[in-house]
Amino acid sequence: MKTGKIQKCHKTLKGGEKNMRKAFSVILVAFLAMVLVYGVSTRTADAKVSGQCVNCHTMHNSQGGAAMRFDSNATPLNTLLRGDCVSCHSSTVANEVVKAGGIPVVYSTTAFPAVPLAGGNFYGLNNDASRHNVVGIAAADAVLTAPPGFDSTTVTVPTGFVQSGTGWGITNWAGKEVTCAGAQGCHGDRSVENTSNEAGVKGGHHGDDSTIDGTTTVKSYRFLAGIKGVEMNTAGNQWEQAPTATSHNGYYGAAGSKNSINYLCGECHTKFHATASGANAATNVGTASPWLRHPTDVSVALLSGADYTAYNPAVPVASALPKTGALNPTTEPGLVMCLSCHRAHGSNQLDLLRFDYTAGTTQAGLGTTQVNATGCLVCHVAQR
Ligand code: HEC
Ligand code: HEC
Ligand code: HEC
Ligand code: HEC
Ligand code: HEC
Repeated sequence: MKTGKIQKCHKTLKGGEKNMRKAFSVILVAFLAMVLVYGVSTRTADAKVSGQCVNCHTMHNSQGGAAMRFDSNATPLNTLLRGDCVSCHSSTVANEVVKAGGIPVVYSTTAFPAVPLAGGNFYGLNNDASRHNVVGIAAADAVLTAPPGFDSTTVTVPTGFVQSGTGWGITNWAGKEVTCAGAQGCHGDRSVENTSNEAGVKGGHHGDDSTIDGTTTVKSYRFLAGIKGVEMNTAGNQWEQAPTATSHNGYYGAAGSKNSINYLCGECHTKFHATASGANAATNVGTASPWLRHPTDVSVALLSGADYTAYNPAVPVASALPKTGALNPTTEPGLVMCLSCHRAHGSNQLDLLRFDYTAGTTQAGLGTTQVNATGCLVCHVAQR
C-alpha cells in the first residue's frame, strides 16, 4: 500500500506545474524517508519484505567490477536476485531460525535447531529418510524415486486458484527431485509453465498477504498456492518460533476441500489423502472406520471420549475455522492433518515425524497414568 501511494504522487506530477513539481519532490523525499525508516524499524502484520532493493537484488551482478551475488559467483540469478531460495533461507549459525533481515531459516547447515520453525528444518538427521530431498540441499533420495502414493491422474488445481498453465505439477517423477517452488515444488504456482522457483512464487515476497483466501500465490498460506489458513505473524512468534496452545499457526482443513493443508501434501502423495485421491478415495483411504490409511481432515471428536481436549502445538490439528489462538478441538472441531504427525521440510526423526515413533512414551498398553505420552497417544488415549 505504501508503494501505491508513491505511484499516485508520480501520476499527479505528470500533469502538474513546475513549482508544484518542486513542492511535490520535497514531500516525496520526506515521504520516502518516512517509508524507509518506518519500513526498516517495524514489521507489518503481513509477510511483505521491506528494506533497500540492493539488500536482495543486483541490477547487473556487478559493482566495481565484482560480482554482487552473496556467494560472489559471476553468473546472474533469476529475478536479479543476489541469492537463491536456499541460500537466503539457510543459516550456518546453530539454532538460528530467523536470521538478519527477518529471513525465516528452513535449512540449518550444521545441526537440527532446538526449536525449528513450523515447517521443521531440511537438516533433519542429515539423511534421506528424515527430510524432503530438495534441489540445492541434498541429492535425490536413494530409495524414494517418486513421492510415495503418487497418482498424477487424480490431482487437479486447488479450488479458487487461477491456473496459468495446462497442468498442476509434473506427471512423471523419473529423474526428478523436489524443488522449493514451481511445477515439482511445494510453494507457489505448480502449473507446467512455471518451472523455476522464482517463477513459481513470483510476486509473493512483495505482495500483501493480510488476507489469506487461497485465490493467488501471495494470498495463499505461506505461498502454498490455493491453501488457506491463518499465519502466525506476530512479532517474536512469526512462523511459530515459539508456539504455545494459544499462539500458533491456524491450519485450514475440511473434508472434500482442495484448500486444505492436507490437499497440498496430497498433490504429490495422492493416495494418502481422500480428496486428492478423488473417486478412488474409498479404496485408498476409506470413508469411515475401519479405515485403510490413516485418515486426515477428520475430527478428533470421532475418538472415544474427549481424548484430544486442547490444542497441542506438539501434535497440532487443522480446522475449518482456523485460528492462531485457543481452539476447542471438540466443538470447533480439530481435524487430523498430515502435519499432526509430520513436519513439512524435515525433522530430527525418521519419516519427517514430529515424535520418536519407537520411544516408550509412544507405545501402547503402558497405562492411562502415563504422563509423558506423545505422538499417537495424545489422540488415542484408549491405546495408552
Ligand atoms: C534475498 C533473500 C530471499 C530470497 C532469494 C528468497 N527469499 Fe523467501 N523470504 C525472504 C524474506 C526476508 C522473507 C520474510 C518476509 C516477511 O515475512 O517479512 C521470506 C519469506 C518467505 C516465505 C514465507 C512467507 C510467509 O507467508 O510467511 C516463503 C514460503 C519463502 N520466503 C519462500 C521462498 C522461495 C520459494 C524462494 C525462492 C524462489 C525464496 N523464498 C527466495 C527472503 C528471501
Ligand atoms: C528482503 C529481500 C528483498 C528486498 C529488500 C526487495 N526484494 Fe524484490 N524480490 C525479492 C525476492 C526473494 C523476489 C523473488 C521471489 C518473489 O517474486 O516473491 C523478489 C522479486 C521482485 C520482483 C519480481 C516479482 C514481481 O513482483 O513482479 C521485482 C520487480 C522486485 N522484486 C523489485 C524490487 C524492488 C524495486 C525493490 C526495492 C524497492 C525490491 N524488490 C526489494 C526480495 C526482495
Ligand atoms: C511437490 C511434491 C510433494 C509434495 C507437495 C509433498 N511431498 Fe512429500 N515427498 C515428495 C517426494 C518426491 C518424496 C520422495 C523423495 C524425497 O524424500 O525427497 C517425498 C517424501 C516424503 C516423505 C518420506 C521421506 C523419506 O525419505 O522417508 C514424507 C514423510 C513426506 N514426503 C511427507 C509429506 C508431507 C507431510 C507433505 C505435505 C506437507 C508432503 N510430503 C508434500 C514430494 C512431495
Ligand atoms: C491428531 C490426532 C491423532 C493422532 C496424533 C493420531 N491419530 Fe490415529 N486417528 C485419529 C482419528 C480422529 C481417527 C479416526 C477415528 C475413527 O474414525 O473412529 C484415527 C484413526 C486411526 C486408526 C484407524 C482406526 C479405525 O477405526 O480404523 C489407527 C489404527 C490409528 N489412528 C493409529 C494411529 C497411530 C499409530 C498414530 C501415531 C503414529 C496415530 N493414530 C496418531 C486421530 C489421531
Ligand atoms: C497419524 C499420524 C500420521 C498422519 C496423520 C500422517 N502420517 Fe505419514 N507417516 C506416519 C508414520 C508413523 C509413518 C512411518 C511409516 C508408517 O508407519 O507407515 C509415515 C510415513 C509417511 C510417508 C513415507 C512412506 C514411505 O513409503 O516411506 C509419507 C510419504 C507420508 N507418511 C506422508 C503423509 C501424508 C501426505 C499425510 C497426509 C495426507 C500423512 N503422511 C499423514 C504418520 C502419519
